[in-house]
Amino acid sequence: MKKRIIITSILLVCLLNYSQFVSAQLPKETEAQKTDRMKWWTDARFGMFIHWGLYALPARHEWVKNAERMTNEQYQKYFNMFNPDMWDPHEWAKMAKAAGMRYVVLTAKHHEGFCLFDSKFTDYKATNTPYGKDLIKEYVEAFRAEGLKVGFYYSLIDWHHPDYTIDRVHPQRQDSDTAFARLNKGRDMNKYRAYIKNQVRELLTNYGEISIIWFDFSFPGKNGKGHDDWDSENLLKMARSLQPGIIVDDRLDLENVEGGWDFTTPEQVQVSKWPEVNGKKVPWETCQTFSGSWGYYRDEYTWKSPAQLLELLIESVSKGGNLLLNVGPTARGVFDSRAQDRLKAMGEWMKFNNRSIYNCTEAPSGFNAPANTLLTYNPDTKRLYVHLLAYPLGTVILPNMADKVKYVQFLHDASEIKFSTSEESPNDLVLSLPVQKPDVLIPVMEVFLK
Ligand code: GLC
Repeated sequence: MKKRIIITSILLVCLLNYSQFVSAQLPKETEAQKTDRMKWWTDARFGMFIHWGLYALPARHEWVKNAERMTNEQYQKYFNMFNPDMWDPHEWAKMAKAAGMRYVVLTAKHHEGFCLFDSKFTDYKATNTPYGKDLIKEYVEAFRAEGLKVGFYYSLIDWHHPDYTIDRVHPQRQDSDTAFARLNKGRDMNKYRAYIKNQVRELLTNYGEISIIWFDFSFPGKNGKGHDDWDSENLLKMARSLQPGIIVDDRLDLENVEGGWDFTTPEQVQVSKWPEVNGKKVPWETCQTFSGSWGYYRDEYTWKSPAQLLELLIESVSKGGNLLLNVGPTARGVFDSRAQDRLKAMGEWMKFNNRSIYNCTEAPSGFNAPANTLLTYNPDTKRLYVHLLAYPLGTVILPNMADKVKYVQFLHDASEIKFSTSEESPNDLVLSLPVQKPDVLIPVMEVFLK
């Protein structure tokens, strides 16, 4: 009898180990299935990023704890003061929707380690601040009510957790290996790995359908952290099993693992062409700030103009990508006036011109953009969109398009734009524009192809 129990236990242990091994496999998917799963996202093109946490109180960058090398004790005052008394997530959701954004990603936890949600696995959370409520719960409900797809940003990095080892981007980073070792004595990354799994499980279980998870970020190498530190494969496998349709960024350090990411994330840069991996165009999204910081930064003055922001959006679509545009709300819980002004201006443009953004992508090869224009294309309706970044005098020439075009109009008012061909270059189409630039930040011509 005893023997049988021992043999059964050995078998059980083997089985458990085996299932752990098997659990490292990510779900397999064909390229067509992936395209299908991501279709709403590639069609949407425009989303809102929200960086909100305790760093809104110092109001000098979400990396302030790191930059000023603050300890947990020094940073604690922001936790004690956190009380966004004016917060109305419905207002945020309405502003995002009015700007033309179709999805949203909010920092459930940023590098500072503070959780906006009521996690069972930490006390360092919104419910223990003077505010006292689960912000994530209110957030998901409000944005869903406006019809936006809801996502979470979750920081892999954690500058508060006692088991997270001090690394080169930690506020308490050191100059020598011995100093690192001394500080890291007793810290147990096994416990931290379990912590992030527990929290991601909570986020993807307790708040209904979650469409995007944005893990941030890996920095392998000396005194860095990569997929082994996060147990990325198992973390991702768990995320996908809890939310089978979820769309995942590429910062888990699984770039070379099949199924390890869904889209690439060029940050604060304009890509020169549609990004490729192994010669294949991949889904991509650029994340950008209005000014130089993700968190609310009172004294930051490098704000982009509405026209520059629209150009970022159009340019992304013209290369087959998305724009995730960030707002850093204040510690009272509102978007400051600079952010609101820009969202309004973008919304005004989107209201009349969103047909050149939604469901659009890069124009087929062979369509060459005239100087100072950006092209987007809707493959379903076969319409080409010519965005006039600088308003030309009188005419625009579409090279080699003479026999391809049925009709042309301005998008904002559906007013006809006449065209002709010229004898000198019979393949080119000459569009005749009014002298005066229409009252639109970036006018768009809608070209109906044959
Ligand atoms: C960087 C920064 C971070 C920001 C993120 C957005 O990784 O660490 O503060 O959240 O970019 O992409």
